[in-house]
Amino acid sequence: MYYKNKKKISIPITVKCRLGVDDQNIESDLDNFVYKIFESGVNGLWVHARKAILTYKTISNLNVPPLNYERVIRLKKKFPNFFIGINGGISDINTIQCLLSKLDGVMVGRAAYHRPIFIIQIKNLINNKNNYFNKSQQYYSLYKALKLYIEFIDTNIK
Ligand SMILES: Cc1cc2nc3c(=O)[nH]c(=O)nc-3n(C[C@H](O)[C@H](O)[C@H](O)COP(=O)(O)O)c2cc1C
Repeated sequence: MYYKNKKKISIPITVKCRLGVDDQNIESDLDNFVYKIFESGVNGLWVHARKAILTYKTISNLNVPPLNYERVIRLKKKFPNFFIGINGGISDINTIQCLLSKLDGVMVGRAAYHRPIFIIQIKNLINNKNNYFNKSQQYYSLYKALKLYIEFIDTNIK
C-alpha cells in the first residue's frame, strides 16, 4: 500500500514510532514492524525510545514509560543498512555524541525549547568545536546569538 504512494513523491519518507504500544513485545513485535516498514520502501526510521501506553494522558506518555536507548541501538545492529535515528529525553551533548556513535541521527524535542542555548551547543558540536563545555565560549556563543537576535529585531520590527 505504501509503496504505491511512494511512487508519487520524490522526497524521502521517514516513519516515527515508539518501541511498542501497551502489551506489545518490544523485541519481536518491534523487529517485525520495522522489517515491514523498510520492506515497504521507507527511507528512514525515528524511534522514540519508550513504549506508548494508550490509557495514559499525553503528558504522562511523554515521561512515564521508561526510556530504553539500548533497544534502539540493537535495532540498528539488526538493520545496519537503514537510517535509524533516536528520540526521547535527550538533553545534553554527551548523550548526543554517544548516541551518534551508534545510530544515524538524534532528534531533540522539549530540550530545544526548555533550554534554547542547547541549540547553540549542538551547533558547536556540528561545527566540530570541542570546547562546548568551556563556559566562556558558551557565554560568547550566547552573547553572539543574542546580538544577532537584537539585530534581527532592529531590522524587522518597526
Ligand atoms: C508539545 C509537543 C507536541 C508534539 N507533537 C508531536 C507530533 O505532532 N508528532 C510526533 O510524532 N510527536 C510529537 N511530539 C513528541 C515529540 O516529537 C517527541 O517524540 C517527544 O517529545 C520526546 O522527545 P523529547 O524527550 O526530546 O521531547 C510532541 C511533543 C510535544 C512536547
